[in-house]
Amino acid sequence: MSRSELTRSQKLALRYFAAAVTLFGVMIIFGLLSSLYYLFPGMLFEVFNFNTSKILHIDVLVIWLLMGFLGSVYWYLPKELDHEIEGIGMAEIFFWIFCAVVAAVAVIFLFVQYGPGNETTLWLINQGRKYVEAPRWAAIGLLAVMGVFAYNVAVTAMRAKRMTGIMWVLVLDLIPLLVVYLDAFPADPNMSRDLYWWWWLVHMWVESTWEVMIGCIMALVLMDVMGTSRRIVEAWLYIEVMLVLGAGILGLGHHYFWIGTPKYWLSIGGFFSALEPLPLLGMIVHAVYDAGMHRLKTNNRPAFYWITTEAFLNFIGAGIWGFMMTLPQINMFSHGTQWTVSHGHFAFYGAYVCGVIAVLYVVKQQVSGVGFLDGRLWKWGYGLLNLGMVGMVMALLMAGMAQAFYGRAIGGSTLMAFVNASENPWFVSGMWARTIFGFVFAGGYVALVCSMLRAPKRVPALYPQPEPA
Ligand code: HEM
Ligand code: HEM
Ligand SMILES: [Fe+2]
Repeated sequence: MSRSELTRSQKLALRYFAAAVTLFGVMIIFGLLSSLYYLFPGMLFEVFNFNTSKILHIDVLVIWLLMGFLGSVYWYLPKELDHEIEGIGMAEIFFWIFCAVVAAVAVIFLFVQYGPGNETTLWLINQGRKYVEAPRWAAIGLLAVMGVFAYNVAVTAMRAKRMTGIMWVLVLDLIPLLVVYLDAFPADPNMSRDLYWWWWLVHMWVESTWEVMIGCIMALVLMDVMGTSRRIVEAWLYIEVMLVLGAGILGLGHHYFWIGTPKYWLSIGGFFSALEPLPLLGMIVHAVYDAGMHRLKTNNRPAFYWITTEAFLNFIGAGIWGFMMTLPQINMFSHGTQWTVSHGHFAFYGAYVCGVIAVLYVVKQQVSGVGFLDGRLWKWGYGLLNLGMVGMVMALLMAGMAQAFYGRAIGGSTLMAFVNASENPWFVSGMWARTIFGFVFAGGYVALVCSMLRAPKRVPALYPQPEPA
């Protein structure tokens, strides 16, 4: 396939991928900067504070992953439904609106940073809710972008001659995905009530609606890269979705342990979130099963590696690392320490970053038209990104366990105990190791970008092109 043969929707997808990869880089820069404050606490005092750097790091994370999802869906939709996207003109315009909003918010966060605690600040500067801090006007803009996207997908699905199981799941998933975003808006002065609703957004995104979304995307990718039959992919998708929603919705309770909600949340949250690793385990069985069925034969090595890694690290980062601290008996000690940060990094990376990178390589192969995609550069990206992330996660775990042990279990959670734990050598060396592995991760990002930009060697397909049933 050459560039001129791409549909308009696929060209739009390429723009989304370019924006996503660029913002991935911006996120890493602010991640590294945020980590340096732990080593040099007086850094940039009263010029640029840790909290703003961290806001940029995590808000850009949410945005670039969303862009990666949008790109993936715009890429696959015309092929999946055999129909060009309805309302594509509007989608093209909204891509630029999306970019303009993100750029404007970044400028506000960089130069204005914060305002007085009133309505004007909420509307123009910062809504102050972690992960979705963008001011209200920008949140409305994002809602419009997602609304146009939902319109594109739903109306194309309605007009297309055939509807597939994957598309059904995707269309239905878009409804809660959008609805919970409305949670970014209300600002309740009662902290417990505010957190109660805010968790609907954060938890229901990453542990329900985004998991379903990436499940659909991985299903499409698997058919492309391994030629897995649609029947098998869809059967697994239904099982995974059922389990994700079955455990994930009430699993929300693991955020209600200590925010002033009734006691019954301890049992509900503990029980249901302990079941959350199950669907992720199902994904691994699925990936290994497919790889075995096709005897590891693939014409796209990098995509194949990233798909398998996504399945394993989603299970380990979200499932195991989440499970470790999801029972209230343990969470009482680990809550809000670097242990949580360890899980947050591992889960986001395993579930979503690896998945989006897999799609990038599928697209790379199809746009450049090579039969067999391999080479050396992608391996550097793969190796350094994974080494950097696993290193960071282990360093954070060590630091977090020191906080839980010295600050909570032994010190009794006093302010002094917190300060002592922060000076503990296990904590301090953990923070250094995190930054060092962060630079390794950044090296991996550079290799990833180079492998995307460099023209691949023209090697004919080694195996017969998969023909999904
Ligand atoms: C060079 C690599 C990175 C560095 C140095 C880095 C550093 C940091 C730092 C210092 C924080 C603030 C933690 C705190 O409040 O104590 C943070 C938060 C966070 N980062 Fe990163 N990060 C990096 C890459 C990533 C990646 C690749 C992801 C996602 C896949 C990610 C997701 C997050 C999330 C979700 C949080 C919020 C965690 C929480 O508060 O529990 N970061 N990061
Ligand atoms: C892809 C899926 C997941 C992602 C991206 C994810 C990400 C995160 C992040 C970023 C946080 C920190 C939130 C904050 O305080 O700012 C968090 C907290 C938490 N996650 Fe996950 N998570 C995932 C799946 C899971 C699963 C499957 C479990 C349980 C089995 C789990 C259990 C927890 C718990 C208990 C907390 C609260 C930690 C605390 O008390 O400080 N997570 N998660
Ligand atoms: Fe959660």
